[in-house]
Amino acid sequence: MYKLIVYIALFAFFSSCTSKKESVKTTVPEAEITIAFGSCNKLNLENLLWDDIRNSKPLLWIWGGDIIYADSDDVSEIRTMYDAQNKVPGYKKLKKNTQVIGTWDDHDYGLNDGGSEFTSKKQSQQAFLDFMDVPADHPRRIQEGVYFAYNYNGSLGKIKIIVLDTRYFRTTLTPDTETEQRYKPNPYGEGTLLGETQWKWLSNELSTSEADFNLVVSSIQFLSNEHGFECWGNFPHEVDRFKQLLVDSQAKGVIVLSGDRHISEFSKIDIPGLSYPLIDFTSSGLTHAYANFSGEPNPYRLGNVVAKESFGLIKLNMITKEVQLQIIENNGVVPLEIRQNY
Ligand SMILES: [Fe+2]
Repeated sequence: MYKLIVYIALFAFFSSCTSKKESVKTTVPEAEITIAFGSCNKLNLENLLWDDIRNSKPLLWIWGGDIIYADSDDVSEIRTMYDAQNKVPGYKKLKKNTQVIGTWDDHDYGLNDGGSEFTSKKQSQQAFLDFMDVPADHPRRIQEGVYFAYNYNGSLGKIKIIVLDTRYFRTTLTPDTETEQRYKPNPYGEGTLLGETQWKWLSNELSTSEADFNLVVSSIQFLSNEHGFECWGNFPHEVDRFKQLLVDSQAKGVIVLSGDRHISEFSKIDIPGLSYPLIDFTSSGLTHAYANFSGEPNPYRLGNVVAKESFGLIKLNMITKEVQLQIIENNGVVPLEIRQNY
């Protein structure tokens, strides 16, 4: 009998410890922040990744562009497609518990490979902001272009998401008439991807950033520059300007998130004067990938190219400052991942 009482007392003691531990656990801030992103999402193709995205329990879902394929200067068509996207059950479920932010690319903007010349850009911006649930009186409604910054301020650290607009201000590209490739880089110094107002804003956002990580969302690839499609490399002087801005601002943990290409890959470069390598994490597409991909040069690539439908997952450890970057396919398959310490 005495033994039984001791056992009961010990059991009660240990179970109280466990429940105490659990209750403490819920008040301890998350050491690891997860952010998911992706691009290239056709309405008429089923997106099989929404459940996998939800299962990763991200703090944020970031659209990297080509949310819809409207390809139209008729904004009522753009709106109809955004409305249909909002009714996709998997996306609706994600939106219930997850904040959604992001940018556009050419197909949701309305013009394939389009830039500042697009005549419906003002109306298209309003349709995009409606889709993003931006209030009618928000300053982003009167600003030209959809760029903005999102700040996460946790007790263990800060994350800034700098969302760029690579469409609204982009000047003419140079067609490549000598090779099979679509475009070649502009002469150095000619033209702009971001436009001067956005450049000034970006420069201020990075220079004043107190964040431990600064994720820069660019619809098109920053580093990979030899494929002949759209990329920052078509404006070589702006590639250099961005690199110089990283060095001058000494912004911590900058990672570029890109899409557009219908392939997913990691690119990395060491920049003199920057204490960490710059990674460009390309994730696309969500509903259709470059199935016939037979290879292309990318001097900055890490590992292989994933040419299957996928999304990108970023796990930021706010204590160790280690970041895990994963390409995720249907059913949570991870064909490629890298880690980087900041
Ligand atoms: Fe696309």
